[in-house]
Amino acid sequence: MVVNCSKGKDVYAMATAPPRRFSVDLVRLFLLFAVLTTGFLVAVLFFGDGVAASSYYRLRSLALPDVLHAVGRSAPCTEENEVERWWARPPAKSAWHNMSDDELLWAASFEARAAPPRRPSKPRKVAFLFLTRGPLPLAPLWERFFNGTSTGGNGTELFSVYVHTTPGYLPDFPPSSPFHGRQVPSQVTQWGRPSMVDAERRLLANALLDHDNEHFVLVSESCIPLHPLPTIHAYLARSVHSFIQVIDDPGPDGRGRYHAGMAPDVSISQWRKGSQWFELRRSLAVFVVADGRYYPRFQEVCRPPCYVDEHYLPTVLTIVAPGSIANRSVTWVDWSRSGAHPASFGTKDVREKFLESLVGKKEKKRCTDNADLEEPCFLFARKFAPSALQPLLDLSSSILGY
Ligand SMILES: *[C@@H]1O[C@H](CO)[C@@H](O)[C@H](O)[C@H]1NC(C)=O
Ligand SMILES: *[C@@H]1O[C@H](CO)[C@@H](O)[C@H](O)[C@H]1NC(C)=O
Ligand SMILES: *[C@@H]1O[C@H](CO)[C@@H](O)[C@H](O)[C@H]1NC(C)=O
Ligand SMILES: *[C@@H]1O[C@H](CO)[C@@H](O)[C@H](O)[C@H]1NC(C)=O
Repeated sequence: MVVNCSKGKDVYAMATAPPRRFSVDLVRLFLLFAVLTTGFLVAVLFFGDGVAASSYYRLRSLALPDVLHAVGRSAPCTEENEVERWWARPPAKSAWHNMSDDELLWAASFEARAAPPRRPSKPRKVAFLFLTRGPLPLAPLWERFFNGTSTGGNGTELFSVYVHTTPGYLPDFPPSSPFHGRQVPSQVTQWGRPSMVDAERRLLANALLDHDNEHFVLVSESCIPLHPLPTIHAYLARSVHSFIQVIDDPGPDGRGRYHAGMAPDVSISQWRKGSQWFELRRSLAVFVVADGRYYPRFQEVCRPPCYVDEHYLPTVLTIVAPGSIANRSVTWVDWSRSGAHPASFGTKDVREKFLESLVGKKEKKRCTDNADLEEPCFLFARKFAPSALQPLLDLSSSILGY
């Protein structure tokens, strides 16, 4: 069966769907079914009964969204070819699209169903996932951090940016800014509610659509980077682990939040807690967006005072991939002032000594995650108030190195 399945244009750039030919549609439907069927087996092989038991049956009826059908070359339409075309897609210029959440999660978990060919060995990118209300008061600092690194000095990109906001918020960044056009379709997100983890998965899914993203870092509008981007990139690329904090807390704020409804998927001895600010490798990010077994259960039974964003990733990643996680976060936060929220730093707090201690160069405490290399424990820090911007800009080049 040979059909020309080229659409002749880069569909990303199109505002409306191109006219379709009946025969192509039929073939595509058949191929989609074939890809789904074989992909399902691949998922079984990849994740054992973990994912396969409940994953994505309900999404089988969806067609591959038009927005993802790129590639302008003519080629025979075989199943292999369809998968190849998927991997050949160029990254979209804008992060915006018209997919529903279901379509997005379906598309982003594609590689759990169709094993990816290994991509060429160009440096892989760090995707910065900004989970925000809207405004990014520290954007000038981040712009400085990204500045000059988008070509890696020799044509290699080191990062990409995705911004989740309150729906309807219209960011206003000039085309020269790394934040320009990087807003993703967003939904209302409430602190401590499942909608918070929905937003994290939505960000992950959007970033997974770019095959060159390998590291996925969740940050907020009050986060700052503590080192230059090439240093952070190298630190993450060297590590065999994803950085996610994992604590087994026997107290009321730990195991006390376990709900019997989690059984049998999660027992109380498997229940973990940790900060929501993660760094995930691509394979774990794919697992998270494709997870149809654990996540629905968390959504259903983990309600305040159980906070899904503090328990879902630490618990589930400890169950499915204990050897792949460092059990610590690379995002520093100050919990020393007690309360439900960590300390926030403003103009008066941002002094040389304080920043130097965060950077960790003069600290005794070093982390040894990367083989025997001793390295700083933290790559990012929060929370910084908008008023901290000016002192941060004043000190960034001498202390933070950018
Ligand atoms: C999304 O849909 C709207 C209205 O249907 C259209 O105006 C817009 O161009 C579409 N955007 C993309 C990226 O397809
Ligand atoms: C980026 O770097 C260039 C050259 O070093 C400089 O002229 C420009 O002002 C910088 N932009 C920002 C946002 O820091
Ligand atoms: C490109 O630059 C990056 C960072 O400066 C470096 O790590 C990499 O080895 C360079 N690649 C080539 C092919 O020169
Ligand atoms: C993280 O904890 C798990 C057990 O929960 C363990 O198997 C793994 O080795 C730990 N990771 C590191 C880097 O120590």
